[in-house]
Amino acid sequence: MGEPVKLGVIGCGKISDAYFTAAAKFHNIRITRVADRMPEAARSKADTYGFTASTVDELLADPELAIIVNLTTPQSHTELNERILRAGKHSYSEKPFGLDTASGRRVLEIARKLGLKTGSAPDTFLGGAQQTCRELIDGGAIGRVVSGTAFMMCHGHESWHPNPGFYYLHGGGPLFDMGPYYLTALVNLLGPVRQVAAIASRAFTERVATAPGIEGLRLPVEVDTHVAGILEFVSGAVITLVTSFDVWKHTCHNIELHGTAGSLRVPDPNCFGGGIELFQPQMQEWTPVALTHGFTDNLRSIGVADLARSLSGGVPARASGELAYHVLEVMEALERSSHEKTHITVESRPERPAPLADSELQ
Ligand SMILES: NC(=O)c1ccc[n+]([C@@H]2O[C@H](COP(=O)([O-])OP(=O)(O)OC[C@H]3O[C@@H](n4cnc5c(N)ncnc54)[C@H](O)[C@@H]3O)[C@@H](O)[C@H]2O)c1
Repeated sequence: MGEPVKLGVIGCGKISDAYFTAAAKFHNIRITRVADRMPEAARSKADTYGFTASTVDELLADPELAIIVNLTTPQSHTELNERILRAGKHSYSEKPFGLDTASGRRVLEIARKLGLKTGSAPDTFLGGAQQTCRELIDGGAIGRVVSGTAFMMCHGHESWHPNPGFYYLHGGGPLFDMGPYYLTALVNLLGPVRQVAAIASRAFTERVATAPGIEGLRLPVEVDTHVAGILEFVSGAVITLVTSFDVWKHTCHNIELHGTAGSLRVPDPNCFGGGIELFQPQMQEWTPVALTHGFTDNLRSIGVADLARSLSGGVPARASGELAYHVLEVMEALERSSHEKTHITVESRPERPAPLADSELQ
């Protein structure tokens, strides 16, 4: 076993604790340095977890760091990813991969030119639940997938997040914020998307925060907050995807897939574990399926560990920029379809990431 790949992290906000805690569980990566444009945020996390706090420039100049993890808000993702790559480091970004395909494509091109890798969240599709679903589908448990539904519906994040404004600006909204989990899970299970159609709406032009400490803060809404979409996959499967921040409560399952030989209930793709249910014609009811894969805790950073593994193994990283770019293209196409009132073709065709064997990252 070689030395762990050293990581720097830019962005020490709400989600960073999940990364700091989970990264410590993977033997092949080690976070040593953190930065944030708010120096006190970096200092506080560095003190808690035993890292070195620094400026972004100092972090990018540290010759020991091979991968920089970008946990900033969506508006900074591509700009920082470019800087990270130009500093000669591999980059791994939180989702979305960019605000639009033009900037996402630029990041891919820079990485390609410089011979570096660029990866992106979500990595929840590497968790035990999604990997078990992948094995079931690849093994023919429901036959050829013909149709399905995917629902991510809630009332937004201003009731709990300390800085919820970005969720209602370009790069936020239910589609760009939560869509990546659902779309990445679907592409992992079914392969790439060929075309989409959508109609979107917006229940409020302004939201009012109720989270502790920021009660009453008014948040302008720049994006649609209910997006009803239809995706046609290259495989022929037709999936209905609804993402919404305008729904208080519902009874729709996260993802259901229907095939020629049965139906599968796929659990929340924002989580690593979860219960799976299968129906085949000989069964009376939905039947629970035991997970056949590990990594079921909140392991945000497993995608980074897999990227580190790919550096020495000469194999592709699973949570890759190419996969994240495809998801970004699908999301942009859904938006365009709604605005232009037409079906939109999706051009990119990433490889389905290889299934993950537990032993690869243990
Ligand atoms: N909060 C969650 O539960 C959650 C879950 C999964 C993914 N994410 C994703 O993680 C990312 C960060 O979310 P968060 O909730 O931690 O946000 P946050 O606002 O709590 O934290 C973001 C941090 O990044 C810093 N930052 C922003 N731009 C920067 C720049 N250009 N240079 C240096 N520092 C910069 C901010 O100062 C802040 O400390 C988002 O893309 C979000 O979609 C969040």
